[in-house]
Amino acid sequence: MLMDTKKKILITGGAGFIGSHVVRLFVKKYSDYAIYNLDKLTYAGNLENLKDIEEAENYSFVQGDITDAGFINELFEREKFDGVIHLAAESHVDRSITDPLAFVNTNVIGTVNLLNSARDIWKENFDEKRFYHVSTDEVYGSLGETGFFLETTPYDPQSPYSASKASSDHFVRAYANTYGMPIVISNCSNNYGPNQFPEKLLPLCINNIKNGNPLPVYGKGENIRDWLYVIDHARAIDVIYHNGKNDETYNIGGFNEWKNIDIVRLLCDVMDEKLGREKGSSQQLITFVKDRAGHDMRYAIDASKIKNELGWEPSLQFEEGMSKTVDWYLENTEWLEHITSGAYRDYYENQYQV
Ligand code: NAD
Ligand code: DAU
Repeated sequence: MLMDTKKKILITGGAGFIGSHVVRLFVKKYSDYAIYNLDKLTYAGNLENLKDIEEAENYSFVQGDITDAGFINELFEREKFDGVIHLAAESHVDRSITDPLAFVNTNVIGTVNLLNSARDIWKENFDEKRFYHVSTDEVYGSLGETGFFLETTPYDPQSPYSASKASSDHFVRAYANTYGMPIVISNCSNNYGPNQFPEKLLPLCINNIKNGNPLPVYGKGENIRDWLYVIDHARAIDVIYHNGKNDETYNIGGFNEWKNIDIVRLLCDVMDEKLGREKGSSQQLITFVKDRAGHDMRYAIDASKIKNELGWEPSLQFEEGMSKTVDWYLENTEWLEHITSGAYRDYYENQYQV
């Protein structure tokens, strides 16, 4: 049972990659909050991510599905949350290409269910309440060689994943405009760090380098992403939840653009050194494979608004973040083994035709 604490905060998707870092930060930093982690535990949700804080007095886990409106309503009626930080989502672009409806269900309908339940328990008095929706830079579409995504950049989503996230962002803003819901949204660039599911580029390559398997690079590897250490994203979420203004959007990014092929090469070199392998040996595993359908060329965030208005900026240099990340995966072999068994193996074989 949770203590009778001042504020009840619901964090959705807290067993996933980013959510688990947000839950940990809030549980450790705010002993006067009661933190509820609501997660369905899909293939991407893993309570092993939270082992170190699962016994904390101000933490409680609730297993449940945000697409189940009845369940969500009952939960909000019972717990009367003061705030919501919404991260639960289907998050992998390649899976969205295979099964777009799963993304509509969780990312769009799930978000609207949460908005409805929050509105219904808060509608008499929105004071001190907040619905924080965590979104992605992919809603802005794809950049050419120059320019950056600003908070004012028009939406132009290109994949079923980004279309579903863009739709959920629109619903969140519509609830502010229509019902006066106190909302805030952030759109972040690519995260990397401990606990990321190894379907995403960096942990997939770390796992394959470790095992001497091919490193599948889509197309020519020229697509560009802006990488941010996950704990810096969690810090930004903390700052925005507490100090961001209602109805505002904040872009979050790493000021750290890399071509896919260059980041994979760097990762190979870091791992060769840590594994005591000959320099250059892991790069031989790089294999160019069929490109992702509709593959966005470049993402790059202009994060000056959050820096100037809220004083947030990345705390880690990329080389340090990459080194810490590789160390974490090499030290947590059990975590990786648990995940890469079973259903993940089937997904991997299907996606990469191995
Ligand atoms: P993830 O896939 O690692 O975790 C998603 C979590 O949501 C999992 O724990 C899963 O079990 C849970 N979930 C999925 N469907 C659910 C449902 N129907 N009901 C309840 N829980 C459900 O994702 P992530 O990479 O940690 O991303 C978290 C959020 O941040 C997402 O909203 C994503 O769009 C956004 N985001 C991610 C990145 C990134 O680089 N990973 C960057 C910017 C924004
Ligand atoms: O920009 C934020 C987004 O970053 C988040 O909203 C998404 O949830 C998150 O998954 C991520 O999306 P990406 O598609 O950019 O990440 P991913 O790790 O899947 O791919 C990174 C780049 O690497 C992309 O250009 C595709 C490429 N890639 C990916 C995989 C899985 C490869 O070349 N080979 C691969 O096997």
